[in-house]
Amino acid sequence: MLGNFSYCNPTKLYFGEDAQNNLTTELQKYGPKVLLTYGSGSIKKNGIYDEVLSALHASGKKIIELPGVMPNPTTDKLLEGAELARRHNVDLILAVGGGSTIDYAKAVSVATWYDGDPWEHFYLRQNEPDAGQRIIPVGSVLTMVGTGSEMNGGSVITNHLTKMKIGKVFGTNVMPRFAILNPRYTFSVPQRQMVSGIFDIMSHIMEQYFSGTDNNTSDYLAEGLMRSLIHSSRIAVKNPQDYEARSNIMWTSTWALNTLIGMGKTQDWMVHMIGHAIGAHTNATHGMTLSGVSIAYYHHIKTYGLAKFARFATAVWNIHEAGKSEEQLANEGLEALLAWMKEIGVATEITSLGVTEDMLGDIADATVLMKAGYKDLTREDVITILKNSL
Ligand code: NZQ
Ligand code: ZN
Repeated sequence: MLGNFSYCNPTKLYFGEDAQNNLTTELQKYGPKVLLTYGSGSIKKNGIYDEVLSALHASGKKIIELPGVMPNPTTDKLLEGAELARRHNVDLILAVGGGSTIDYAKAVSVATWYDGDPWEHFYLRQNEPDAGQRIIPVGSVLTMVGTGSEMNGGSVITNHLTKMKIGKVFGTNVMPRFAILNPRYTFSVPQRQMVSGIFDIMSHIMEQYFSGTDNNTSDYLAEGLMRSLIHSSRIAVKNPQDYEARSNIMWTSTWALNTLIGMGKTQDWMVHMIGHAIGAHTNATHGMTLSGVSIAYYHHIKTYGLAKFARFATAVWNIHEAGKSEEQLANEGLEALLAWMKEIGVATEITSLGVTEDMLGDIADATVLMKAGYKDLTREDVITILKNSL
């Protein structure tokens, strides 16, 4: 294992068909005023809103509603939420939704009692809240699986003025205090969103897996999670109401990005950096921005980490290695990945997401170049990957 690290994950999870019955117990730990934030109304159609409201009423809470959190939440919406939370001096932010709503709740949590521009301070400059700054606790009821936001400090906000989409990973003080994970709550997610979330999970695992030359426990955990995800995704696309498959996908999603499998190793994250830049320019669904560039990206970098790509082929996709070179295995592994992506129905190019050739320069400019993957990308590399993704 690389370096020294500490691991603490303070989010309490309640998992299963009856998970929501624990909401009242959790709510009792906080003061009377709850900011209830959610998206564009799916929770009112599938009954989740009513169940959450009855728990809030049973706990005697005063409810301040903040609906309308859009996929890829914006800086404008953040300012609106922070103003509302401050005006009502809320004690808890309860996010009911997917990654967008939970990410947004974390952003409001830190922005409410910060006096400057939260976009600039927390996102552009990547600052942590000052030691004395008040942070509003966040709780979550997860309705869409993929981001892992329910058990991590990640919060991604989009600024449409500057066409930038930036994620900030906050510390344990901003992570959700609790998360309600009922797999049945995800049954109403449209198929396109479901598979987008499935690819997001796969991408989170691959971003942490494709880096480093050491042979560590985190990589074995990653391989197990990928195998489980591939297995369950094949069942879920055929029958989205299969509880066993959907519950396994939900659990895999949480563990894919609660930082556990990134411990003691380097990580990549360039697919996400390119995906976020595409998202900032097209507002496309997050998981699809990742699937759209992944194949071109991994072919572009594979020769720099050939042994790991060969291992990916054999350990994740059961490809027989006898008599094959590492390069052959690497290619077969990526072919298997592509075949699976087509099977579950995610985008395998970016044209269908609204990207045109004349946008590539701007998207490359908006891509944050991170180090620690197998190849440190230049702007030219990003352009090549984008061209190969059209
Ligand atoms: O607006 P509502 O009504 O909630 O509808 C949503 C939305 O349209 C719908 N949906 C959610 N649950 C549903 C449902 N529809 C029917 N039934 C349900 N049970 O699904 C749509 C997408 O929701 P969203 O929250 O946007 O999806 P996702 O969970 O993929 O979140 C995406 C956001 O998370 C960020 C992404 O960049 C993006 O902004 N990420 C957050 C990360 C983190 N916190 O660590 C990491 C990720 O890599 C990612 O960047
Ligand atoms: Zn993601």
